[in-house]
Amino acid sequence: MEQVVDKVIAGKAYVDGRIEEVAIAIDDERIVAITKPSKAPRATEVEIVKGKRVILPGMVDIHVHMRDLGQSYKEDWYTGTFSAIKGGVTLVIDMPNNVPPIDSVDALRRKMETAREKALVDYLFYMGYPKDIKELDKVIRMDIVGIKLYPEDLKKDELKTLLSLCSKMGLPVVFHAEDPEILHIDRLGEMPEIRGIEKVLDMVDYKVHVHITHVSLSKVAERIIRARGLGYNITFDVTIHHMLLNNNIYDKLGGLAYVRPPLRSEENRSYIFNLVKGGLPNAIITDHAPHTLDEKKGENPSPGFPGLEIAFPLLFTQILDGKLPLNVIDLYSAKPATLFNIAKGSIMVGNDADLIVVRYDVERRVKPEDFVSKAKYSPFKGWTLRCEVEKVFIRGNLVYDTQTLLVRRGYGRQGRRFKCRTLWAQA
Ligand code: DOR
Ligand code: ZN
Repeated sequence: MEQVVDKVIAGKAYVDGRIEEVAIAIDDERIVAITKPSKAPRATEVEIVKGKRVILPGMVDIHVHMRDLGQSYKEDWYTGTFSAIKGGVTLVIDMPNNVPPIDSVDALRRKMETAREKALVDYLFYMGYPKDIKELDKVIRMDIVGIKLYPEDLKKDELKTLLSLCSKMGLPVVFHAEDPEILHIDRLGEMPEIRGIEKVLDMVDYKVHVHITHVSLSKVAERIIRARGLGYNITFDVTIHHMLLNNNIYDKLGGLAYVRPPLRSEENRSYIFNLVKGGLPNAIITDHAPHTLDEKKGENPSPGFPGLEIAFPLLFTQILDGKLPLNVIDLYSAKPATLFNIAKGSIMVGNDADLIVVRYDVERRVKPEDFVSKAKYSPFKGWTLRCEVEKVFIRGNLVYDTQTLLVRRGYGRQGRRFKCRTLWAQA
């Protein structure tokens, strides 16, 4: 008997690093075949994508702050993941610096319940510095992707014990590598990050998977790439803002553009941009970090700003303008997914059918006042975007179409991961 699949989506799609006319067959939430359009299997539903549109994998953002819990005035899982959808992101990994902090099984459970209730896209979690390292076993069984350590954590006495345990258990450790001893004296300087990476490399063994997030300096990137060569199991990511903005913007925007690590000189910005052009980072991230406008103003601005709604459109605009090669898309999809064995991020048989349809015959401006995020400001305000995420499919279901949300809060699930070990640094 001829097989009938749930859905076929056909059109120009990004498959194996190229744009091709294909038919993507979806059954039971997953991609089951990729064929020439003429060879597509029979399907209950067929969607043809035409005109100036391209089908891409859903983007994967491995560094976001959905807030909620004690900080739902800044963002919550609904507004945060709605922002993700608008920006073509179908899986996020959420950071643990919540109020209360995610430092125990109980805290993690509470956060999981909140996400399950409200999330629109799929998600995974990092755990913060654990209150009781005996709980590591349990959190691994809850499928956390790794431990996230902040600058203050680098001061803790038992850090070495934690790191060797992570090494034994094969649990990745993600570092915000800025030296806490000098952060307060040198808020906008380079030394905290330079000293931070040295401290991290001094502390870790060769076996543990170390991931350095938001690298913003050429010196730090070079140090990491050298460490890779020396056999460290080390990977890193860069943010969309360190790629595209430099610190001149502080004169105009002040605290609104303040972020940790800070925006850097034009030399560093263009260095990071060129790293991306060459495909060297293991991921691009937003570090979506919403705060209220009041918190961004005044003497002591909170670091960070929202990014999920515009990161992919900004990146794809760079590609359309010929400034970055097409396969830079991988840094915001396939590569981060591979880094943590997530069954998404590329149009590939066996992966979840997370697809986005992107129109590229539009021209619009970044208008933060229209963000669905609670944080309605952006250092990218007024930037031109030459594309728009028109449709979003998550696990085969159309969740968003032409500005309209088609699913309810709670559609998102904890992301599916492949059970295998990767040699991370080569991912
Ligand atoms: O800019 C930042 N914002 N950097 C961080 O490390 C924390 C984040 C936040 O949670 O607001
Ligand atoms: Zn962050």
